[in-house]
Amino acid sequence: MVEVLVTGGAGFIGSNFVHSALARHPDWRVTTLDKLTYCGRRENLHDVMDHPRHTFVHGDIGDGSVSGPLVERAEVVVHFAAETHVDRSILAAGEFIRTDVEGTFVLLEAARRAPRLRRFVQISTDEVYGSVPEGASRETDELKPRNPYAASKAGADRLAYSYWATHKVPVIITRASNNYGPYQFPEKVIPLFVTNAIDGRPVPLYGDGRNVRDWLHVEDHCAALDLLIEKGVNGEVYNIGGGNEVMNVDLTHRILACLGKPASLIEPVPDRPGHDRRYCLDTAKLRALGWMPRVPFERGLRDTVEWYRRNEWWWRPIKEQDAAFKSYYQAQYGR
Ligand code: NAD
Ligand code: DAU
Repeated sequence: MVEVLVTGGAGFIGSNFVHSALARHPDWRVTTLDKLTYCGRRENLHDVMDHPRHTFVHGDIGDGSVSGPLVERAEVVVHFAAETHVDRSILAAGEFIRTDVEGTFVLLEAARRAPRLRRFVQISTDEVYGSVPEGASRETDELKPRNPYAASKAGADRLAYSYWATHKVPVIITRASNNYGPYQFPEKVIPLFVTNAIDGRPVPLYGDGRNVRDWLHVEDHCAALDLLIEKGVNGEVYNIGGGNEVMNVDLTHRILACLGKPASLIEPVPDRPGHDRRYCLDTAKLRALGWMPRVPFERGLRDTVEWYRRNEWWWRPIKEQDAAFKSYYQAQYGR
């Protein structure tokens, strides 16, 4: 059996990855390590908690007494755990430095001692390139992160690389574009707008709404990670982009159209400070290994909207009963 450690496996992408890993790899034994912060949820793994090849460990990656032994016995580590929301990093950045940078450092130190480790996948992000006015970011481009979240991820990205260059920890680094799909916490734009619109509440569009994101379905992301675990080259960086550049205002209209809701729900609100205008990835390096995105955006968005419509059990308690979510919403949008 291949011992696979997934950090942050109770979050959005991590939980989708755990599901796909268990289904696609009968020879993998998967351990999820997750602190269950506000966005890490046992519900995301409810149907695999008792799976014979899955173990859930509740703990902090930054606590070496918990994360160290798990890394040391792994053959593959897929490191998703992070603070991930840009707006929260603007309100308060401390946890981003602690988890994204220092937490990654603790895992990498343990990786130096791991005798069987053959892959440490550092999940980075396209935000490390900063705003891209034209063209597409290549893996060799300069990193110019512009918000505290992006900077903390850039720190972890380069720290992971240094452990390859210096200590030969078998690191690969992935930089994905904006993911969408089931189980995404309803603070991110798609689930926030879908769930607000379902309730006939305003959808708060930042600035002029003309910022561009490149949308990647989470299933396509998981397939890319699968391929890279097999065929990636240690020490290399791989962009993972969906090739679906959409302006926020167009995305908002599409979401409202899927739900049959009026455009009058769009509420222009003040812009995010330092709001990156556009992200765009050159994915030639990954495509040369045989990957391409399979989920057309039109279908992926429709299915995602439908998932939130059918799974109110999942998001309604967060939005209606979770005091921490309500106070975040007030701090972010109450102005
Ligand atoms: P998420 O916020 O949904 O989940 C993060 C998970 O990490 C949660 O389960 C949380 O409990 C866990 N976690 C946080 N701090 C922890 C700690 N100290 N110890 C253990 N667990 C901890 O995030 P996501 O959107 O699924 O993103 C996963 C990874 O992918 C992140 O590294 C993120 O930077 C990266 N990424 C995300 C996107 C995207 O569009 N969502 C795109 C590119 C890269
Ligand atoms: O690009 C990859 C990144 O994508 C990941 O690294 C991050 O973890 C992930 O959160 C995401 O970052 P973004 O800031 O792009 O995602 P978010 O969903 O927060 O915002 C997407 C766009 O929508 C962005 O241009 C801001 C805008 N937006 C967002 C919110 C929450 C709004 O207009 N209104 C909102 O209320």
